[in-house]
Amino acid sequence: MRAMLCHRHGGVEVLEPGQLPDPVPAADEVVIDVRACGLNFPDVLMIAGKYQVQPPLPFAPGAEVAGVITSCGSAVTALSPGQRVLAYCGHGGLAEKVRVPAAQVLAIPDTMPFEEAAAFLLTFGTSWHALKQRAALQPGETLLVLGAAGGVGLAAVALGRLVGARVLAVASSAEKRALVSAHGAHEVRDYDDLRGSIAEFTGGKGIDVVFDPVGGPLFEQALRSCAWNGRALVIGFASGEIPKIPMNLPLLKGASIVGVFWGSFVGREPGAADENHRELLEHYAAGRLQVHVGASYPLAQAAEGLALLSGRGAMGKVVITL
Ligand SMILES: NC(=O)c1ccc[n+]([C@@H]2O[C@H](COP(=O)([O-])OP(=O)(O)OC[C@H]3O[C@@H](n4cnc5c(N)ncnc54)[C@H](OP(=O)(O)O)[C@@H]3O)[C@@H](O)[C@H]2O)c1
Repeated sequence: MRAMLCHRHGGVEVLEPGQLPDPVPAADEVVIDVRACGLNFPDVLMIAGKYQVQPPLPFAPGAEVAGVITSCGSAVTALSPGQRVLAYCGHGGLAEKVRVPAAQVLAIPDTMPFEEAAAFLLTFGTSWHALKQRAALQPGETLLVLGAAGGVGLAAVALGRLVGARVLAVASSAEKRALVSAHGAHEVRDYDDLRGSIAEFTGGKGIDVVFDPVGGPLFEQALRSCAWNGRALVIGFASGEIPKIPMNLPLLKGASIVGVFWGSFVGREPGAADENHRELLEHYAAGRLQVHVGASYPLAQAAEGLALLSGRGAMGKVVITL
């Protein structure tokens, strides 16, 4: 089968078209005929050899897919060939077929296009786990979302609204800010004077929950503007800089710095993760969540799609179609 392969670590341009043997499912796995693969920033990190979990070389990147099940392992009872599904595969999605543990596969509504299904699970799953389990965001609380026009950022804006929080979103360009506004943020700003924006938005009280996928100096600025009992969510470091924080700050604020790792959550707490994902699909089916696919490319141009992410150009999600 055709695949886009990473033979050595480096920039996204190292990806090359190649061939892999057709996958055969283990007892608890299914094989999916991939129709679309959603790209995420962790793919860029994995190609660079800088992600927390690294597959052996060579590998096909691509952490989430949507498609049709072609075969099921002997122990799989809840899924069957021919079903339209989405799945979290970790890597291997930039290929014509991928094998995935059945526990990481969900049937999708008939109305959900493959492109949107492939762009759904990782970002909405991460942002929902962050806001629900890690921050326990409450209706009426204030939520700051940095990098708000990116994959996890835009999902956090929509989910913050759904919870009934007041959402202050931050993005770097006018085009990105217009997108975030259209997805329901109450207020959208650029990064200039972040602490001033928070003070204005909260009437000086400080922000209840910070959602930070960007890292760098912004995290400390946001933490300094937390309300009493605030929660600052560590989502990622798209800026390339892992913040180092003076530990008097959480003490003085009575605030928490809370780590979020959706991939591990799925592995360690499969029941809670499954419940989250079914909730999200129900919200989608009821029209309460929209997926924004800002760009899509054919498999051969996967590196172009990844370059959009690594170059800070993505709006919502980037998807590869097969
Ligand atoms: N913890 C978890 O479980 C988990 C799960 C998924 C993703 N993540 C992490 O979350 C982060 C965002 O992932 P994503 O898929 O949403 O990425 P994305 O779509 O590319 O969004 C990242 C956003 O970060 C901002 N940014 C600031 N400096 C940047 C830079 N130098 N390069 C690229 N973007 C930059 C950009 O917004 P502005 O231009 O507006 O600043 C961009 O929209 C990544 O670090 C990823 O590893 C974590």
